[in-house]
Amino acid sequence: MAELSIEVDGMRFPNPFVLASGPPGTNGKVIERSFELGWGGIVCKTLSLDNSLVHNTVPRYGKLHGSGGKKDVIGFQNIELISDRPFDLWLDELSAAKQKYPRHVLIASIMEECSKDAWQEITERTQATGVDGFELNLSCPHGLPERKMGAAMGQDPEITAQVVGWVTEVATIPVWAKMTPNITDITLPGKAAMGAGANGLSAINTILSTIGINLDTFRPMPTVEGYSEPGGYSGRAVRPIALRQTMELARACPEASISGMGGIESTEDALQFMAVGAHTVQICTGAMLQGYGMIEDLLADLDAFLEQRGFASTRDLIGKSLPWFTTHAELVRHQKEAKREKAGQAGRDEMWQGDIASEADSLVTD
Ligand SMILES: Cc1cc2nc3c(=O)[nH]c(=O)nc-3n(C[C@H](O)[C@H](O)[C@H](O)COP(=O)(O)O)c2cc1C
Repeated sequence: MAELSIEVDGMRFPNPFVLASGPPGTNGKVIERSFELGWGGIVCKTLSLDNSLVHNTVPRYGKLHGSGGKKDVIGFQNIELISDRPFDLWLDELSAAKQKYPRHVLIASIMEECSKDAWQEITERTQATGVDGFELNLSCPHGLPERKMGAAMGQDPEITAQVVGWVTEVATIPVWAKMTPNITDITLPGKAAMGAGANGLSAINTILSTIGINLDTFRPMPTVEGYSEPGGYSGRAVRPIALRQTMELARACPEASISGMGGIESTEDALQFMAVGAHTVQICTGAMLQGYGMIEDLLADLDAFLEQRGFASTRDLIGKSLPWFTTHAELVRHQKEAKREKAGQAGRDEMWQGDIASEADSLVTD
């Protein structure tokens, strides 16, 4: 049997599958259940010091369905905020979960306002529970940015560096900074976080979206008393964007441990994130739709893949595809060279242009 466990920043994950911050890690009971079922780790729902400032709405979810009907969920949108449960209760539950499951990795997701005291207080009080690491939520795209939190911090590399610096000054356990995809160049906050002492980067949080409009009422969805706001998009539809941004972070920050996520629903999806540089992979929407029990298939399929392909361990997959990303100019150069070799003669540019035209034509007529 291949080695499924992996050590990242000194944390030994029994396997690389981690439940992402969100409904799957909403309290101590479900965290313990996930360990029981075999998840390698879990990032709890994001905590803050004062839950009285967090007001969730109902409804707060919306779905985009594919042609397969109601069960075929292509994309998922939420306007859920961070945890609205009391901080002290969270501390008790994190500590109990860690005592019962010392070998499973429990990562605390934390978020605060832009204050050194607040970030250092939440860091020190949370790490006293015995959690293994931190994930800094610098990336929630809705609701919290109105309080200058979440994505409002992660979209500004200077603030990102400042917050990561405050946390790493007092943290005695590894720190991952969770990146927002709602930015032109994700590598800028990534580099800022690493420069300020983070051990790793998590990516991606959700993508700002409007899931749909009800054409009977013209109200945007999810509709709360007739109104809505853009929310965070996740699930299968975001995977190509998440893969691209994970790859960009892995290339720009080779010293970072990367926890990749966004639309992972199967081992095959997870392997692709590892191939572009993820050390661990996180799943949120997939587990909400399929249930926590999906871990059984994820583990069996990972083991089968490693075995079939002759990989001794999970670690051997990391970054396998990175050398194959290049620029468009390089693609053209490679293709010209390949054609020259095939034709056995130099520079037949007319033939090359003709081939491109015929590929485009076939797309139109297919
Ligand atoms: C309902 C819901 C709530 C979420 N809450 C949080 C949160 O509290 N903190 C956080 O960092 N990310 C949160 N996320 C984002 C996920 O952790 C993850 O980054 C994103 O959904 C992409 O992964 P996925 O496609 O596997 O869901 C939430 C996602 C969903 C769908």
